[in-house]
Amino acid sequence: MNKFPAGFLWGAATSGHQVEGNTNNDWVQWEKDNAERIAGEANKKWEKWQQEKFPEMFTVENYISGQACDQYNRYAEDFDLAKAGGHNAHRLSLEWARIEPKEGEFSAEGIEHYRKVLTALRERGLEPFVTLWHWTDPIWVGEMGAWGNKETVKYFHRYAERVFNEYKDLVTFWMPLNEPNTEVSLGYMFGNQPPGIKSKLAANTAFKNLMQVQKDIYQVAKAVSPDFQIGCSHFMFDIKSHNRLPWNVLATKIMDYFANYRFFKAFNDSCDFFGIQYYQSFHVNFRIGGKFFGLFENKEVSEKRSDLGWQIYPEGIYNVLTKAAKNGKPIYITENGLADATDTYRSEFIQEHLKYVQKAIADGVDIRGYFHWSLIDNFEFVEMRGFWPRFGLIEIDYKTLERKPRKSFYVYKEIIENNGIKGE
Ligand code: BGC
Repeated sequence: MNKFPAGFLWGAATSGHQVEGNTNNDWVQWEKDNAERIAGEANKKWEKWQQEKFPEMFTVENYISGQACDQYNRYAEDFDLAKAGGHNAHRLSLEWARIEPKEGEFSAEGIEHYRKVLTALRERGLEPFVTLWHWTDPIWVGEMGAWGNKETVKYFHRYAERVFNEYKDLVTFWMPLNEPNTEVSLGYMFGNQPPGIKSKLAANTAFKNLMQVQKDIYQVAKAVSPDFQIGCSHFMFDIKSHNRLPWNVLATKIMDYFANYRFFKAFNDSCDFFGIQYYQSFHVNFRIGGKFFGLFENKEVSEKRSDLGWQIYPEGIYNVLTKAAKNGKPIYITENGLADATDTYRSEFIQEHLKYVQKAIADGVDIRGYFHWSLIDNFEFVEMRGFWPRFGLIEIDYKTLERKPRKSFYVYKEIIENNGIKGE
C-alpha cells in the first residue's frame, strides 16, 4: 500500500451559511426575494432526469436556507461524527454577521459561540482550518455595496484582526477568503447569486478589493502571530485543450489564464499555502454554438456524472495539483467532492481522486492534507441550487435533522486509518 506522508491532514469541509441555520446576512434577504423565481425556472435550468429525480427543486423552500442543518446547535454531534470517521482536521467558516452584526459592534455572544465551536474541535483532536469569508456578508456590508465598495476592505480588516486576536490560542490555519474568483464571477459578473450584479466592471472592482484584502490580512495575521499559516483558496478547473488545433490551444490558454494563472499571480505573495478546490474539468472544444461564449463546449471525458451533471474525472485533480505546484507553495486540498444522493459514486470518487493525489505527491508535489466536501449534506448555495444536491459523507434528514453516515463515510474512514488506499 502506498502511504500518504506522515502527519497528513484528513478531514471534511463546510461553510457557515450552508450548515449553521438561522444566519442573518445579505444572502438570507436575497433568498427571500428570489426563491420563487428560481423555483419557477428549475424546468429550464435542469435536465429531465434531474427534474424527475429531485422534484423538490420546484419548491420555494428548496431555496431558503432557513434552519439548514442546525449545526449552530448541533456542532458537537457533527464533530463527534467527524472524529468517529477518523478525521484529524476540519474546515469551517465563521459568519461575519454573527461576530459583527452592526458596524463596529462586536457581539460577545457570537464571539463566544465560535470559541465553543473551535474548542469542541480541539477537544476531539481536529485541527481547525478557519475561513473568515465564505461569501456571506453582514447586512450592513451588503447595504454598502459589499465588495463593490472599497470601504469593505477596511471593515474586513478590522473584523479579521479581532478574530485573529480572539482565537489565536485555538487556530493556526486560516483561509481569509473562500474562492474569491467564484463569488466575483457568479455574484458580480453573471448575477446568479448575491449580490446579483451583472457587470464586468463591478466584477473587476470586487476582484481588486478582495485581492487587497488578502494582501492586508496576510500582514495583519502575521503581526498577531508569526506562527499563523495563511491560505488562499482557489476553485481550480482542470482546463485542457481537447485537440491540437492552434485556435483551440490558444483559447484554452486564455481561459486557463483567467480561471487559474491570474489568480495565482495576484495572490502568490499573500499566502503560506494554497487551498486547492477541485470539482470539474473543462476540456475545451471549439464548436460554433457551444455553451461557452457560444463558441466552445466542454468535451465529454467521462460517462459518470454527479447529480449536478458534472463529469467525474479523477485525473483532473492530478493536472490541477501539478499546475498549482509551480507556485512553490505547499498545498492542501480544501475541497473535493460530488453531489450524489444515492452514494453510488462517492466511495470510488474518493479512492480514485486520492490515487491521483498520491501520484502528484510521488512526482514531488508538496500536498499536506485533504478535505472532502462535505461532512454533511447542506444548503448548496452556489448559483442558488438549494437543498437537493447532496454532497455529504453524512446524510441529513431535513425534517428530523437526523444525521446518517453513508457507506462512503466508512470507506473514507478506512483510508484515513491506513493513511493509504488498500490494493495500491
Ligand atoms: C464552494 C462550496 C460549494 C461547493 C460545491 C465550492 O465552490 O466553496 O461552498 O458548496 O463548491 O458546489
